[in-house]
Amino acid sequence: MNDNLHQLRCFGCGARIAGAEARPDFRCAVCGELFEVEYPGWSQRKGPDRPNPGALKWLWRERRSSSEALDHSGVWRFRELLPILDSLNNAVTLREGNTPLYHLPRASKALGIDQLFAKHQGMNPTGSFKDTGMTAAMSVAKERGFEWVACASTGNTSAAMSAYAARAGLRSLVLIPEGKIAWGKLSQAMDYGSVTCQLKADFDGCLRLLTQIVNEAPIYLLNSVNPYRLEGQKTPAFEIAEAFDWNVPDHLIVPGGNLGNSSALGKGFRELHELGLVARQPRISVIQAAGANPLVRSFETSHGAALEPVEAHTRATAIRIGNPASWRKAARVIQETGGWCLDVTEAEIAIAKAEVGAEGLGCEPASAVTLAGLKKLCAQGAIEPGETVVLMLTGHTLKDADYTIDFHRGTLLTDEESVGREAEIKGLRRNAQVVEATPAAVLAAMKDRVG
Ligand code: F0G
Repeated sequence: MNDNLHQLRCFGCGARIAGAEARPDFRCAVCGELFEVEYPGWSQRKGPDRPNPGALKWLWRERRSSSEALDHSGVWRFRELLPILDSLNNAVTLREGNTPLYHLPRASKALGIDQLFAKHQGMNPTGSFKDTGMTAAMSVAKERGFEWVACASTGNTSAAMSAYAARAGLRSLVLIPEGKIAWGKLSQAMDYGSVTCQLKADFDGCLRLLTQIVNEAPIYLLNSVNPYRLEGQKTPAFEIAEAFDWNVPDHLIVPGGNLGNSSALGKGFRELHELGLVARQPRISVIQAAGANPLVRSFETSHGAALEPVEAHTRATAIRIGNPASWRKAARVIQETGGWCLDVTEAEIAIAKAEVGAEGLGCEPASAVTLAGLKKLCAQGAIEPGETVVLMLTGHTLKDADYTIDFHRGTLLTDEESVGREAEIKGLRRNAQVVEATPAAVLAAMKDRVG
């Protein structure tokens, strides 16, 4: 069966091409911009290719109790909204998606927002949101007959790609910045069997080099410049809408690195709205680390019309990106939905991460920018107490255990970074203590905590 109903549309000049005509670097041959997947059949008011909202909602819910492997995937469960494959037999899945949406009682109380939730994408098979995009794009790589796939990465993309390539029986190449990715992520690429090259370059340099390589050799590029990645990564928008019974939340807050994820979630909600599955789109805000904030600067200087790359520095290594590939798409999402683009400091990230930990959830540093950003928006009076807010937690806390341990030991932040926040930090730190092996000593340690 041919399920393929898509074409590619250039985000810059609007040129349309067939999927198979894309250049290896996924840049438009006319203007150099990136492509977006579009489904021409959906623009007809009626017709066989236009999905029926009521039937879809029913079908997607039914699939949750199905015994079919594809229905167990939170991406392919919504396959009617990503008809990118000629045959669904080519789908490579690890049962990604269907991630939990948690209420955050402590942060809710502290911020005076009752309806505050976290969509925990770190609960995916390789521990990050990248799995939802990787199942989609890896399936296309397999269907197109590639033997090799590759990505440049700050760690999570490489972990996801390596796993899905192994499942698909493809070989994979990873380019990462030497010494600048968390060990948990590096160990995954090794475990799943990629050729892993640590380069003396930052993420932006790794991606530049890989772009040259794929233009010379038959290797399928799996960074988020690949528009099929975004088709998978838009599906958490469907899960969120479904979880709220198709009444979308007021506000979604997303971390920003290479800006594929915010672009994808925006596309997901836009499509739900265009197809009549939801009545409106949520406001979507993007939060960056202050040391890696090119989109924030772009909004400050030109309201997202032009972007000047920066040299990126942050301990939230996942978003240590100075020249984000998808910035135009993300800027459009923020502008269209009335969202904000903010940055947060290293201390704000560390504090927010510890607070997510104290909710019993945990997340990696890059994910914690969402809570840090929300706190800033609340302080600015930008959020009403009655609003429903969803934070996208993008990675699992175990991805970067060194960061967590350094925070709790008190060795993460410099005095300069902590200035003015010392008491808050002290209140959150939970160092592991060395205690004598006697009941009295252990009981005393417990008493110390209670105060
Ligand atoms: N959060 C985490 C945990 C990430 O790994 C990334 C990106 C982001 C947020 C930002 O998402 O790039 O779509 O804006 N990680 C990429 C990687 C770049 O290589 O793993 P984005």
